[in-house]
Amino acid sequence: MRISIVYWSLTGHTAEMAEEIASGIRKEGVEAKAFNIHETVSDNEYIESSSGLIIGTPVYLASSVWQIHKWLEEDSKGSNLSGKLGGAFATAHFAQGGADTAIMDLLGLMLVKGMVVYSGGGSFGLPIIHHGPVALDKVGDHFDESREMFRIYGSRFASKAKDLFS
Ligand SMILES: Cc1cc2nc3c(=O)[nH]c(=O)nc-3n(C[C@H](O)[C@H](O)[C@H](O)COP(=O)(O)O)c2cc1C
Repeated sequence: MRISIVYWSLTGHTAEMAEEIASGIRKEGVEAKAFNIHETVSDNEYIESSSGLIIGTPVYLASSVWQIHKWLEEDSKGSNLSGKLGGAFATAHFAQGGADTAIMDLLGLMLVKGMVVYSGGGSFGLPIIHHGPVALDKVGDHFDESREMFRIYGSRFASKAKDLFS
């Protein structure tokens, strides 16, 4: 079983958290590969053969970036995303900067694609991850302190993918 992570990252924060999620997925014995669509062309065959797809975005103007929309509208066309488990994450400056709005935007796009969205919600207790994990780069040490939460999110996501698809 494999899970793909697709993200856009200009200054590296979203990329770093994508790798944390990938390491959490691998802890569950599931293969994971992350694609930075700012630098690479996504491997649509790999994505097509994945049971899950997690999408990450920096928050720009309290929203997800247009490059992710373009990827979903055009560049992902080679892969059928319907029925895959979907999740979303974001990095942002501030708690009130709109990360939840950005994540909900991505989850909505996944519904349009026929995906099955998942975050774990509050079902596992701490750390609570209602819509998807968020790391803040302008709030004390929040960014580095969030790394473990992203790994846990990856493990929970992989575990749900195994429940559903193994
Ligand atoms: C043009 C622009 C707009 C941004 N808008 C927001 C915003 O609305 N809310 C917020 O909290 N952070 C905002 N940020 C901060 C980024 O979301 C944050 O630094 C993020 O971690 C960058 O991700 P990256 O390093 O993967 O490119 C903005 C940054 C830029 C460059």
